[in-house]
Amino acid sequence: MAEHFYKLRVAEIVAETDEANSIRFEVPEGLEDAFRFKAGQHLSVRVDINGEEVRRNYSLCVAPSEDQLKVTVKRIAGGVFSNWVGDNLKAGDTLDVMTPHGSFTVDFDPTAKRRYVAFAGGSGITPVMSLVKTALGTEPDSRFTLFYGNRDANSIIFLEALASLKDKYLGRFELYHFLSDEEGDVDLFNGMLDRETCDEAIDHLVDEVSSIDAWFICGPGPMMDAAEAALNDRGVPKDRIHIERFLAGRPSAALAAQMAQLQEKAAGLTLSVTLDGRTRKVEFTEANILDSAREAGLPAPFACKAGVCATCRAKVTKGKVEMAARYGLTDEEIAAGYILTCQSVPVGEGVAVDYDA
Ligand code: FES
Repeated sequence: MAEHFYKLRVAEIVAETDEANSIRFEVPEGLEDAFRFKAGQHLSVRVDINGEEVRRNYSLCVAPSEDQLKVTVKRIAGGVFSNWVGDNLKAGDTLDVMTPHGSFTVDFDPTAKRRYVAFAGGSGITPVMSLVKTALGTEPDSRFTLFYGNRDANSIIFLEALASLKDKYLGRFELYHFLSDEEGDVDLFNGMLDRETCDEAIDHLVDEVSSIDAWFICGPGPMMDAAEAALNDRGVPKDRIHIERFLAGRPSAALAAQMAQLQEKAAGLTLSVTLDGRTRKVEFTEANILDSAREAGLPAPFACKAGVCATCRAKVTKGKVEMAARYGLTDEEIAAGYILTCQSVPVGEGVAVDYDA
C-alpha cells in the first residue's frame, strides 16, 4: 500500500522517567478501525525538524483493550526525534502518523493456557508492556515471566505500572529486574542481561524451557543477541522466539561489498512495481528498490530504511532479488516471498514486486 500518514493530535505527554516520555494520540472519529492494533505493534511517525523530514518507529505501550493510542519515546544521546519530543512536543500539537503495523506479537486466545517469557532492556519494555498486559488480561490461565534490564532504578520505565500488574496478577506474572549500575543482595540481578546472566535466568527462573509457548526479546542489540543465543543453545524452536529490533547493526564488510556489487550490476535494470492497484515500470537507479520506486514518483512507504521496521515490505511476484538486512521479517514471510524493499536489489531483468500483497 502507498504510504499514508494521518494527522493525529497529541492528547497528552506523560513523563515516564527523566529520559522517557509517552505520547498519547487522539484518534479522530472515523479512524478508530484504521488505528486498531495488536499487542506489540508500532507506529511510524513523521515530522519536520529544522526543515528536515525525520521518520521514526515507536512501539505502542498499551494493550489494545485500553482503547488508547500511546507510544513511549526514550531520549537517546544526539537523537534528533527523541530529544525534540522531550524538549518541544506538547499536547495539542499534531504529528503525521501511519496506521499500526509490526509482527512482534502472537494471536492471543482467551481459552489458551500458555506460558510466556520476555527479555526486555531499557525502552525495549514498550512493546513488551503491551504484550504482558494483553496476555494476562485476555488469557486468564496464562502466565508471563519478564526479565527486565536497566541501568538503575531511576531509569526503569513503567516501574510502578509493572509493580501494579504484579499485584493484580499475583501468581501469574513474575517480574525480575536486572540493574547494571546498582548493587542489590542477589548477585544474579546485579549486572546487565549478558549471555551469562540470560543463561542463569533461564536455568534458575524458568522451570521447563520446552513448555514456554512464546519468548519475546526487545532491547539493546547485545542483550537481544545474548538472549537469542541462550535460547538457540537450548534448542528452542525458532517460531517460538519473537524478536523486535529498534536499531539495525552494521552490515558485515563482506555483506556490504556483496551488496555494492549487486547494486552496480542492477543499475539500469527495469522492474515492475505494483502499488495501490497500479503497476508501473521502474528503472533501478538508486541503491535499492524502495528508493528507485520513490525516485520514479511512486509513494512507496518507508520509515527506518535500515531493515528493521518492515514498513517498506513488498512481495516478489517474479524474478529474484537479494536482500541485505532482514530483521523486520519473520522466516515465514521470507519463505512466502516477502522482502524489505529498502534492503533489496533486483538480480536480473523482469523482477516484479507488489506492495499491495
Ligand atoms: S523502511 Fe524500515 S525496513 Fe525498510
